[in-house]
Amino acid sequence: TAPQVVVVGSYVTDLCFNCAHFPRPGETLAGTSRTGPGGKGSNQAVAAARAGAPTLYVGAIGNDAFGREAQAFYEAEGIPAHWAIKPKQPTGAAAILVNAEGQNQIIVALAANLHLRRDDLPIDAIDGARIVIAQLEADLPATTHALKLGRTAGALTVLNPAPLRPDFQPAMLKHVDILIPNETEFVELINRLGHQPGQKPLTAKALLKLAPAKLHALCGTLGVPVVIVTLGQRGCFISRADGYLEIPAFTVDAVDTTGAGDAFVGGFAAGLLEHEGDLAAAARHGCAVAALSVTKPGTAPSMPTRTAVSRFLKKHPA
Ligand code: RIB
Ligand code: NA
Repeated sequence: TAPQVVVVGSYVTDLCFNCAHFPRPGETLAGTSRTGPGGKGSNQAVAAARAGAPTLYVGAIGNDAFGREAQAFYEAEGIPAHWAIKPKQPTGAAAILVNAEGQNQIIVALAANLHLRRDDLPIDAIDGARIVIAQLEADLPATTHALKLGRTAGALTVLNPAPLRPDFQPAMLKHVDILIPNETEFVELINRLGHQPGQKPLTAKALLKLAPAKLHALCGTLGVPVVIVTLGQRGCFISRADGYLEIPAFTVDAVDTTGAGDAFVGGFAAGLLEHEGDLAAAARHGCAVAALSVTKPGTAPSMPTRTAVSRFLKKHPA
């Protein structure tokens, strides 16, 4: 089957360490670790594919052991991938610390991901896609080009503006149909783009106290048709020209919330296909995929299967 979802973005090997508390400068702590596939782009592709959407992942890796593990993982999963191999660059790697409270600290070295180029993009696959998804961990001009190609070919373009890099150019948003920031990224976007000069900058704390009408108006200033802000345990809200809607999260026992945002984006895309473009149903689907992913350790390996998602949704009817 031709891929209906094309995800263009980062692949990163996640080196996850569990510790009782985060080490202080100069401190050496004993902990446990596991290594696995990660990176926002790849996590979102795995989430969408496992949730049942025919998905193609596009990303850049090095010619090294981590890169070969990446390819082996995709083969084992049966998820099609289009790899750009960068012989002079290492595969991306992240050090992820998770403390006893389940909080995380991450350092990511994007390496090969920053060398993805326009020529690396599979034009035919993007042409045939219904949804093109991107984030901000890979090279930005190539990422922008992917969104542009998707838009031109009539696909729905989704941008998860994570992490919101200093070199992010707002012009990229011209090519975006659905923007999915988390609350921190949303606040930063509003402060960078949506605010009038002289206005006090918005804070995450102030955001939570805003009335729906005000949130809706703020989303409107970003100039993207649909904005979905993910709020962690509080679910998400959807804002588009004709309305504003809050979708509550599912309550689960979280063991590791790393990659929950990625789970939401992939699950949302799969939900869009399953519910024929119904944004609320798709967001609910995204919340279910995110909820299931946080009950397991790791990022991509914790993404739930389609069967698990539909069983979960049956147990938690709207
Ligand atoms: O969103 C989580 C991801 O961000 C991790 O998998 C890590 O690789 C970082 O890039
Ligand atoms: Na997880």
